[in-house]
Amino acid sequence: MNFALARQGLRIGEYRLEPLCEDDAFDLLALFGDPEVVDYMDIAPLTHVSQAREIISWARQLAARDRGLRWSIRRDGQEGLIGTVGFNSLELDRGRRGEVAYDLARVEWGRGVMSSILPHVMAFGFQRLELRRLEAMVTAGNLRSCAILERHGFVREGLLHDYAYWKGRFWDQLIYARLSD
Ligand SMILES: CC(C)(COP(=O)(O)OP(=O)(O)OC[C@H]1O[C@@H](n2cnc3c(N)ncnc32)[C@H](O)[C@@H]1OP(=O)(O)O)[C@@H](O)C(=O)NCCC(=O)NCCS
Repeated sequence: MNFALARQGLRIGEYRLEPLCEDDAFDLLALFGDPEVVDYMDIAPLTHVSQAREIISWARQLAARDRGLRWSIRRDGQEGLIGTVGFNSLELDRGRRGEVAYDLARVEWGRGVMSSILPHVMAFGFQRLELRRLEAMVTAGNLRSCAILERHGFVREGLLHDYAYWKGRFWDQLIYARLSD
């Protein structure tokens, strides 16, 4: 297991993954303030920087307890973050699994950015965190998210009816998983 390495960040070609920090609050407000980006996520579009700070604090608390990891995604030569990626949850005691999560600013969709990054996050999970199972929960209808998971060897294990509740209604969730080789 290597959380110290996660805290140093990862370099992936022209991208850098850095632990999400307080200084990212205004960038995160811009990212999650876009209704299209959060459409299938468990949050309404952010309207105030305090909401971004709450998310950062949640991510940092998870990381402090080795229960999750969230990096900002940065591109060389560009100000600010272009998305985030990591593990929304990590179970290292009664299992060896992590739930991957990712998002990109709308302008970055359809360019293969996350497809460049996800294999490295998966390798980090399997090799550094010694996970047996990576999983992802996807709101039914989030076709881009399904496509990227399927391209990277995740298998759709099932549809969980009315599994989640946010934004005033229940949502079906697809569960995807990929096991270590
Ligand atoms: C999920 C999300 C990250 C996927 O982004 P994406 O850009 O579609 O994903 P990829 O990086 O795999 O890119 C694939 C697209 O880039 C294109 N592409 C271009 N160059 C490519 C390359 N070198 N490699 C792979 N794909 C490439 C593909 O053709 C594909 O485009 P298409 O879907 O228009 O056919 C993005 O839609 C998002 O941020 N959504 C909002 C947040 C969200 O819902 N997160 C998931 C919660 S479960």
